[in-house]
Amino acid sequence: MPEPYARDVKTSPRAAVDLTPFRDAAARFASGVTVAAAAHRGMHHAITATAFASLSLEPPMVLLALDRAGQLIGLVRDSGHVGLSVLSAEQETIGRRASTRGRALQPLVDEAPTTTAVTGAPLLLGALAWFDCEVESISEHGDHAIIVGRVVAAASTDGEPLLYFARRYHRLGPQLGDAAVKR
Ligand SMILES: Cc1cc2nc3c(=O)[nH]c(=O)nc-3n(C[C@H](O)[C@H](O)[C@H](O)COP(=O)(O)O)c2cc1C
Repeated sequence: MPEPYARDVKTSPRAAVDLTPFRDAAARFASGVTVAAAAHRGMHHAITATAFASLSLEPPMVLLALDRAGQLIGLVRDSGHVGLSVLSAEQETIGRRASTRGRALQPLVDEAPTTTAVTGAPLLLGALAWFDCEVESISEHGDHAIIVGRVVAAASTDGEPLLYFARRYHRLGPQLGDAAVKR
């Protein structure tokens, strides 16, 4: 019988105060990178977010985890929408900019060209894909909230994605970077 866990895996007991094993484990989940954005009454904001997942096909829904203490969640709540743009490898600078804490709420268009689709949520031009979402639900869990978004429009193009792994940005590399999505 193989052992269920490698011997050197650090465990995180339920009541642990030390968050290091949790953080280190989470950092080993490789993901794409999105910019989540909302606009309401002339206010715009956008943040880098990797806590994104495709949730449902019928109807199409996605989910996003947002810091309850961050500045975007209020705009998402008030506007009832969120735009999720999947960053291309060429958009690392935007990812870095949009992850700067405490930036003034300002039009995303100051930092990168945007467009809108159905809901009015800002969507990044040049993104590999985007999802324009109406907010279906917001539920609070610890210091984050899960936003379930009903996708009312989506678009995508072929290209190389920006990746995040082990607290750094990465690219897929020349072999996989140009892989087109099979239709
Ligand atoms: C790679 C990366 C991924 C992130 N993913 C999320 C996320 O999924 N949800 C979130 O709320 N914050 C996430 N953050 C943090 C926010 O981008 C950052 O705190 C944000 O700029 C806060 O903006 P604010 O101070 O205007 O609220 C991430 C940061 C980085 C660098």
